Amino acid sequence: MGRRALVLGGGGREHALAWALSRSPSVELVLVAPGNAGIRGAASDGAAPIERVPIESLTPKPVLALARKERIDLVVVGPEGPLCDGVVDALSEAGITAFGPSSAAAQLEGSKAFLKRFATRHDIPTAAYTIVTDFAAAEQAIDSSSSPVVVKADGLAGGKGAIVTSTADEAKAAARSMLVDGALGEAGKTVVIEERLSGLEMSVHAVTDGERMWVLPVSRDHKRVGDGDRGPNTGGMGAFAPVTVDPELMARIHQQVLRPTIEGMAADGSPYRGVLYAGLMIAPDGTPNLLEHNVRFGDPETQVLMPMLGGDVAELFASAAAGSLDETAVSVPADRHVITVVLAAKGYPKSPRKGDAIVGLDEAGKLPGVHIFHAGTARQDGQLVTSGGRVLGVSASGSSASEARAAAYRACAQISFDGMHYRQDIAHSVLT
Ligand code: AMP
Ligand code: GLY
Repeated sequence: MGRRALVLGGGGREHALAWALSRSPSVELVLVAPGNAGIRGAASDGAAPIERVPIESLTPKPVLALARKERIDLVVVGPEGPLCDGVVDALSEAGITAFGPSSAAAQLEGSKAFLKRFATRHDIPTAAYTIVTDFAAAEQAIDSSSSPVVVKADGLAGGKGAIVTSTADEAKAAARSMLVDGALGEAGKTVVIEERLSGLEMSVHAVTDGERMWVLPVSRDHKRVGDGDRGPNTGGMGAFAPVTVDPELMARIHQQVLRPTIEGMAADGSPYRGVLYAGLMIAPDGTPNLLEHNVRFGDPETQVLMPMLGGDVAELFASAAAGSLDETAVSVPADRHVITVVLAAKGYPKSPRKGDAIVGLDEAGKLPGVHIFHAGTARQDGQLVTSGGRVLGVSASGSSASEARAAAYRACAQISFDGMHYRQDIAHSVLT
């Protein structure tokens, strides 16, 4: 009997996780709650079927009830919210294997103040900072900083919590909106004012069992909405992997950030299990400064990382969750390159329009090496329509970056909906 897996979440990341689990030899069924309109599928190519199931909310009680009812052997949690809310704690107590950190360990992402204090305590390089809870203290911290600052809400703010500023006035306006106007609610009642760093941004994902870790191929996402990194920030408009990283730098990231994080959490009594996604700023002298830790996979990074992996992803996750990481369960073919292009709705990121009919998916999905992961899609009177800002992630693999890129863009050209837009320059940097 194979595993029955349950993925929690409903975006492109969760579709990619479900797809990877369905191709794991140890899995017989994948459920996704609540999923999205593209998450379904009869077994094909020997993969296990994927089914969508409704759930009242991704909080411990309904998740535990669903996992019990469906006799789930492995739960994989997509977003950070349910992790911070203690979904993994509840499942683990009930004896159900769940991949992701406990709520105490999820504080690495759930509280920026926690992260900064943790980094200081364990000698992890990070920007100088002050933690404040009132506006007068924020003003003082901003005025006494010798560099421009970044103003960060302590709590989860759906990607809107970090404001990178250039002047003291801008910084004060950001701090005021959080601390005085309550723009981000509870999440902004405590604020971190930190030194603005410069350098090369990089993010690294590692799967860990609390002691050992396995670092995934390095990926890069493209945050701005427009080509050439112009326009407003988004959740991510595309990504590619692998990014070539100097081995010396990789060793420093390991020794100065990843290892002290895993050891520090264990020493502090909250061992970290799951995937750790570190956001780094590499200083000109090579210091890997930690900007943030995320306690989950990135979106759209997952849509490139899952097609990178061969083997049994379910076994990788289950072994990490059980405290006995088996990284030999998966393999990364040396010549595999993957890129993902996000197709966004009209008006994204400001005010995405919903309800536009999507056509061309069947043709696009048949192209060799192409996988289409749904995010903001819904079904209306039998027709697939847009229902969110990031509508689809078009992933393609190839034996070189240019081959993967050409396949992804060929697939994008087959798909259309009114107002669709996407970046033309994903992975451009590795080709020039
Ligand atoms: P965070 O939510 O902490 O990851 O911040 C979101 C984004 O803000 C990061 O991906 C960086 O682009 C930027 N950022 C965060 N902290 C800093 C910093 N100290 N210096 C410069 N940029 C930063
Ligand atoms: N791609 C950015 C994130 O998932 O946070």
